[in-house]
This record gives sequence, C-alpha cells and structure tokens, in this order.
Amino acid sequence: MIYMDNAATSWPKPNTVYTRVLQSMEKYGANPGRSSHTMAVEAANLLLYGREMLCQLFNVSDPFRMIFTYNTTDSLNLAIKGTLKEGDHVITTSMEHNSVIRPLMHLANLGIETTIVPADSQGLVDPKDIEKSIKPNTRLIVTTHASNVTGTLMPIEEIGTIARNHGIYYLLDAAQTAGSLPMDLSKLPVDLVAMPGHKGLLGPQGTGVLYIREGVDLNQIKEGGTGSLSESIYQPDFLPDRYEAGTLNTPGIAGLGAGVEYILNYGQEKIMNHITNLEKLFLNAFSQIEGVKIYGPTNIKMRCGIISINIWDRDSREIVNILSQRYNIATRGSLHCSPLAHDTIGTKEQGTVRFSPGVFTTLDEVKACIMAVGEISRKIKIRSI
Ligand SMILES: Cc1ncc(COP(=O)(O)O)c(C=O)c1O
Repeated sequence: MIYMDNAATSWPKPNTVYTRVLQSMEKYGANPGRSSHTMAVEAANLLLYGREMLCQLFNVSDPFRMIFTYNTTDSLNLAIKGTLKEGDHVITTSMEHNSVIRPLMHLANLGIETTIVPADSQGLVDPKDIEKSIKPNTRLIVTTHASNVTGTLMPIEEIGTIARNHGIYYLLDAAQTAGSLPMDLSKLPVDLVAMPGHKGLLGPQGTGVLYIREGVDLNQIKEGGTGSLSESIYQPDFLPDRYEAGTLNTPGIAGLGAGVEYILNYGQEKIMNHITNLEKLFLNAFSQIEGVKIYGPTNIKMRCGIISINIWDRDSREIVNILSQRYNIATRGSLHCSPLAHDTIGTKEQGTVRFSPGVFTTLDEVKACIMAVGEISRKIKIRSI
C-alpha cells in the first residue's frame, strides 16, 4: 500500500517509536508523578524526556511550557477557552479547521464574538485584513500555520507582529507544520502553539502539545488529580500540572519523545527538503495532466507539502475510492473537516483529493501516484470509468 495520508496522521513511524511505546508499557508502566517508587519515577522521566526533546526541536528553554494534551484539537480547545471570556472578540480566517471554528462557534453562545477574515482562492490571507478587523476588545488572533486543504502557508510572522503591536495573543494551529517545518519559538511572535504529536512529530495517536509562552495568562479548562499538592482541594497554579489533570498518555508520550528524537537525529532541514522535492514532483506532473486541477498557491515557497487536486468534475470521494481499490494508494477526499476553506476555494460540493507525502515517502511511490492520476484522468475523458 502507498500511504499518502500523512496530513491526517503520519505512517509509518520510526521503529524506535514502536519499541519505546512497548518498552514504556512493559518496563515503565506505573503512573508517572503519582508515587515515589522506582517505576513511577522512571515513567515520570519518560514524560520529562518528551518535553526536553520538544524543547530542543523548537528552541524553548523551559520544558514545563510544553503541555501534553491528547491531540491538536485538545490543545486548541485549551488555548481558545482558556483565553477568552464573555465580551471578548477573536479574529480568525476562512482557512481554519473545524478544531478552531467549532470551539469559536460554541463560544458565540457565551457572548464571545468572532470575525472570520476571508482568504483568496489560493487560501492566502492578507495580514492587513486581520489588522483592520481588530477592535478594542480583541483578545485573541488564531490562525492555522498551513491549510490542511490547500497546503497554503500563512504569513505568521506578519500576523504575530500585528498581534504583538496591539497587545493581543496569537494562537497558532501548527497541525500541518510541527515537525516538518523548522520553527524557532524563541524568535517567532507567537504566544500559544497547538501541535499534534501524531503527524509531523512522528509520535502515536492520542498525543498533542500546547506550547504556552512565558507571561501568557491562560485559565485551565479542566481540574483534577495531578499527583502534586494532594492536600489541596484546588488545582495547582504551576506548570505543567495546572493544565495536565488526570493520568497522561505515558506510552504515547514515550513514543512521541522517540519521534522527536528521530527528527533531531535525522535533521529537520533534510525532512523539509525531502517533502518539498516530492511536492515539486507532484505539482510539475499534475500540472501537465489534462483534466487535473491543483489547488493552493503556485509558488512552492508558500506551500507545506500538501497537494490537493480534482480530476475533471468527479466527486473527490469517488477518486479516492478508485485510488484505493485499483491502485492501493491511500489518500483523503471530501471536505477535510474544513468547510469554510472549501467555500473559499470553491470545492464545497466536490471536495478535494489530498496527497500528503511524509518523511518515509519514496520517489517511486510519488511516481506511482502520478501514473495512477494520469490513467484515471484519461479514462474519465473517454468515459471508461
Ligand atoms: C489544520 C488542522 N488543525 C487541527 C487539526 C486537528 O488535529 P487533531 O486530529 O490532532 O486533533 C487538523 C487535523 O488534520 C488540522 O489539519
């Protein structure tokens, strides 16, 4: 099987991820931070190791500013609901995933107003439009780093600078970039970054991270046991315990630590270049196939390694099924949980067929996808599919 669905979750993982998950359960299966016996301490060390690996990758000095969650959605909910209160205003874009839009629509019921800044048909947002939307009560700007539909990269430095100049928090949804695109969080003007552990960071599903910059005031959205301050009936106010109530996904985080370790050893630039080269191959070939429409920016520098297409006027789900059943190629079709992004690029009915290569994707696999798309397109033209 040719796996081209890394934007949904990366697969396969480095071998060390599998062994570390197993090892964490077999050898260090105690509850971290809940006791002082040796195995509990070893389990706690796995968590700390994961935080330290993340700090190295993102150039963050305090490991406790890396909060473990269960996925990007969980991180976004904590960041959004922990920041906003009744009467606040928040700015976002029309390229967001439902993991941003749905929490914001829910908060509308609680008196929190949202402005959705429209992107153009390539998914590009003009930072000036974001600045024009700022009101005296704007507390948060939240944007994706890269669209999961078109792969469009957002001008995050400009948006972050605007947010800083107006004293507004900037929350970045790095679901499609964390791990695959180098990010120096000591320099970027971002306050909160939501990341999946299970995509570009190469960890298991059920892992996510929220980075909280020093000085950011964020309420917790759940309370419970932390293994610390057990004499108190109140949630601890120190990090990471304030935001990590309940037993964590220790095996998943052990795997995540191994995933990030792999990226550090292999080299993030190398990963990025590999994916960009594959993306170029896809784009060059697809642009020459009659009947194929490519979405997103034409400039490769404004893309993150996601290639969304349609073939003639066929429903994207039909193409995904053909690719899977006849060619054994795994892609994703339909609306990718981002209905507003599909409105923006005009694919609300058709959806798009999304190819998302990863660190382990080979050149031959990309060539096989190109051959398959060419053949499908020709067959549709002569009506033999
Ligand atoms: C841009 C974006 N944001 C958020 C999410 C949600 O991620 P998760 O499944 O880790 O919650 C995704 C998932 O594909 C995404 O692409």
